Amino acid sequence: MKNSKHFETNAIRTQVARSEQREHSAPIYATSSFVFDSAEHARAAFAEEVEANIYSRFSNPNTDEFIEKLCLLEGAEDGVATATGMSAIFLALSSHLRAGDHIVSSGNLFGTTLQVMNNLLSRWGISHTLVAIDDNEEWEEAIMPNTRLLFTETPSNPGLDLCDLQFVGKLAKENNCLFVVDNTFATPYLQNPLQYGAHLVCHSATKFIDGQGRTLGGAVVGSKSVMKEVRTMARQTGPSLSPFNAWILSKSLETLAVRMDRHCENALKLAIHLQNHPKVKEVKYPFLSDHPQLELAQKQMRMGGGLVTLELSGGLERCKKFIDHLQLLSCTSNLGDTRTTVTHPATTTLAKQTREEQEEVGVTEGSIRISVGLEHIDDIIADLEQALEKSERV
Ligand SMILES: Cc1ncc(COP(=O)(O)O)c(C=O)c1O
Repeated sequence: MKNSKHFETNAIRTQVARSEQREHSAPIYATSSFVFDSAEHARAAFAEEVEANIYSRFSNPNTDEFIEKLCLLEGAEDGVATATGMSAIFLALSSHLRAGDHIVSSGNLFGTTLQVMNNLLSRWGISHTLVAIDDNEEWEEAIMPNTRLLFTETPSNPGLDLCDLQFVGKLAKENNCLFVVDNTFATPYLQNPLQYGAHLVCHSATKFIDGQGRTLGGAVVGSKSVMKEVRTMARQTGPSLSPFNAWILSKSLETLAVRMDRHCENALKLAIHLQNHPKVKEVKYPFLSDHPQLELAQKQMRMGGGLVTLELSGGLERCKKFIDHLQLLSCTSNLGDTRTTVTHPATTTLAKQTREEQEEVGVTEGSIRISVGLEHIDDIIADLEQALEKSERV
C-alpha cells in the first residue's frame, strides 16, 4: 500500500505481502528459520547483500508487519519489536551507552524502569540523575559533560505528569545527547515524540496497543541511523517478539484509533464526574481543567489518554476497602485494557520504592490509578460510586 496521510488507514492497510494462498488477513508465520534458494543465497543473505528473512530472532514477516505499521504511526524510519515493554526500554538504554556515561531522566517513571536505572545500569558503570519531570531548569542543570542520554515517560505512570517534549528535545540537541521517550501511556495516536526531537520511542505494547489484556510486547522505533545500534543489539541479545504475539499486536493496531477515542472520552467523563466529588480528595487527568500542565497537554497530546488517578483520604485502609468493594471493575496491575482496571500503586507497581521516593512522584497511600476501559461510562461510574460509598463506612 502507498502510505496514507491518515492514521487509521495506515494502521489497517499496512500488511505483509499476500502469499500464493491469497489470504485476506495476514497469516501467522510460526517458523524459527527460513529456507534459502541455494548456498550462495544463504551467504548473500548473511552478508546483507540481499534482503531475506534468515531466522526469527532477526526478523519475521509478522514482527516486520507490526513494526512497519508502528513506524508509520510514530513517524519513524525503523524499529525493532520486543517481547515486552521492559525489554524495549532496556534495549534503547543499553544499545547506545558505555561505562562512564551518564543519563538524565525524569524520576516520574514506571517502577521497574526506575529499578533498571537505580539498580542495574550502575553495574556497568552507567550513572544517572533523576529530575522532576515538569521542571525544565532541573533538566538543564542536571546535564554533565558525560551525559549521553535523556529519558522520560509522558504522561508518567501513575502520576500523569508531563514532560515538555519540545524543551527536552531541544536540550538533547544542544548537548549532543540522545532523547528516549516511553510513549506507552499516550500511544502513537495521541502523541508522536519524534516530532519534538526524540531520537527513540519505546512502547510497552502490552498496554493500549494490545488493548485487550492478552499479550506482552514492546517496540523501539526511531531514525535509521539511531536504530542501527539498537537493531544489532537486539539481533545479538535476542529479546525478540514471537510471531504469534506480533500478529495479535498488528491486528490490535487496526483498532487503536477507535479504541483510544473511546478510552479518552470515558476517562474525561470520569475525571469530570470525580472533580469536586465530596468523597474524592483529588483527581488528576491531563485534559482536566485544573491539571497544572493542561496547556502543555493540549499542545503535545491529541487527547488526555485513558488513565485517571485519584487521591482518597483515609490512606491505605480506605483504598483497600474501596478496591475490595468494586464489583465490576478489576483489581489488577495491567492497564490499557477494554476492561476498567484499578491499581493501588504504593503497594504494587511502586512497592519497591521507599515512601519518600513514592511521594517525590506524587504517589501516597491514598493514590489510586484507574485505567478507564470501554464499558459504558454509566456502569463504570456506578461501580466507583458504590465502592466510594461503602469504603467510607466503618
Ligand atoms: C509506562 C510503562 N512503560 C513500560 C512498562 C513495562 O511494560 P511490560 O510490562 O510490557 O514489560 C509499563 C508496564 O506497566 C509501563 O506502564
